[in-house]
Amino acid sequence: MLAEGAWFLADPDEVVLSVEAVGEELAALDRQPNSRVLLAWRGRTLVGACWLRGGRLRRVAHEASLELMVLAEERGRGVGRRLLSRAIGWAEGQPGLGRLVLAVMADNERAVALYRAQGFVEEGRRRGSVREADGRERDDLLMARTLRPAEDSLSRGG
Ligand SMILES: CC(C)(COP(=O)(O)OP(=O)(O)OC[C@H]1O[C@@H](n2cnc3c(N)ncnc32)[C@H](O)[C@@H]1OP(=O)(O)O)[C@@H](O)C(=O)NCCC(=O)NCCS
Repeated sequence: MLAEGAWFLADPDEVVLSVEAVGEELAALDRQPNSRVLLAWRGRTLVGACWLRGGRLRRVAHEASLELMVLAEERGRGVGRRLLSRAIGWAEGQPGLGRLVLAVMADNERAVALYRAQGFVEEGRRRGSVREADGRERDDLLMARTLRPAEDSLSRGG
């Protein structure tokens, strides 16, 4: 999937982890109470994945960063929307979580539309944060979605 280039930061030759190492990392993530890995299958083929990586330190443990991807030939059929909405549903059931955050290339219209439709708002734009091999610079957007009303966190504060 990384060979597509456009929507992922890592080029294929920059991914040095073995399949086993990735499996172990995802399994470890799934054991953290503020983190989760969701997989979408068509038969026995893995067609999509969404993971939430919760903050490890106490002050940021209420926030999880989200990543989402669907196999190229399976896109446009609702797999991404269903995975994202299941991830949000899971996160909303975790009392310790209050925010989901993500970074997405600003020109990734499909992903940005999907995130907006599911309640994510833009919190910032990093200009030229990605530089392609030909020198062309691209922006990315920082987006976030609150999981509970802000007054909850205010009343918890001190
Ligand atoms: C972004 C991605 C996860 C979306 O998954 P998907 O299965 O293709 O998306 P869906 O079919 O569920 O469509 C979800 C929404 O995307 C939007 N969308 C779908 N196709 C679109 C297109 N061609 N152009 C613009 N928006 C589009 C729509 O808002 C759609 O919602 P709707 O069906 O209610 O109208 C998938 O395209 C992907 O893996 N892309 C490469 C990796 C990537 O960009 N990941 C996100 C990086 S942060």
